[in-house]
Amino acid sequence: MKLTNRLLAITKFVKKGSVVADIGTDHGYIPVYLVTNNISKKVFATDVNEGPLNSAKETIKEHCLEKYIETRLGTGLIPIKPYEVDTVIIAGMGGLLIRDILKNDLDLTKSIKKFILQPMVAQEDLRKWLIQNHFKIIDEKLEKEDHRIYEIMVVENGEQIVEDGIYYKIGKKLIENKDPLLEVFIQKHIQKQKNIFENLEGQTSDKANQKRNECIEELRKLEEVLSWVRQ
Ligand SMILES: C[S@@+](CC[C@H](N)C(=O)[O-])C[C@H]1O[C@@H](n2cnc3c(N)ncnc32)[C@H](O)[C@@H]1O
Repeated sequence: MKLTNRLLAITKFVKKGSVVADIGTDHGYIPVYLVTNNISKKVFATDVNEGPLNSAKETIKEHCLEKYIETRLGTGLIPIKPYEVDTVIIAGMGGLLIRDILKNDLDLTKSIKKFILQPMVAQEDLRKWLIQNHFKIIDEKLEKEDHRIYEIMVVENGEQIVEDGIYYKIGKKLIENKDPLLEVFIQKHIQKQKNIFENLEGQTSDKANQKRNECIEELRKLEEVLSWVRQ
């Protein structure tokens, strides 16, 4: 099975021998890849919707992997029992949905050693929630696919000190690792802030002035990170 760049980058964070749950598996490509490449011997493929789960079942059947990949219907982590898996992948969903899945049953969530999360939006909110709820982001990676840059986070239980709010937007590990896509990624954020700033032109309300000041501060920090990355 050939995976897209995004899905392949996610699988790279799975340690050989891990028991994995792929939450919201849809097509089931990740579980099939993990087993056929001898990364995992046991994978749970779950989805809240029957249609996507059936699609996963078909992929698994085509590869004759029913013995190694178990499909389960249900929302979030509910189909998984505590300590049944060591690694959970939640990819291709919004950051707020991922956050809600994690917070639904914190005891169950905390029983899992490692999460590989790939939020499509609201990455900043997710990072904030993770750190405020005693998780640490131990690694991060950017991956490009079809002109879009995806953010992948590796998360474990533990404490993390965030020295500056900018690290919620631009993951600290991306900066420490000097991720090859970081410069383009920061430029995108800078452009987004510039657009917000331009849209505020002519507005004089307190709210607009506050937003303008936030924008200036955000741009200053983004430029600072960019110049550090370029060194
Ligand atoms: C866009 S697809 C992503 C599929 C795959 N994980 C990927 O990254 O390519 C999102 C999948 O998540 C499932 N989903 C949405 N909310 C869910 C939830 N609360 N629990 C489990 N699965 C969910 C959807 O049914 C859908 O199959």
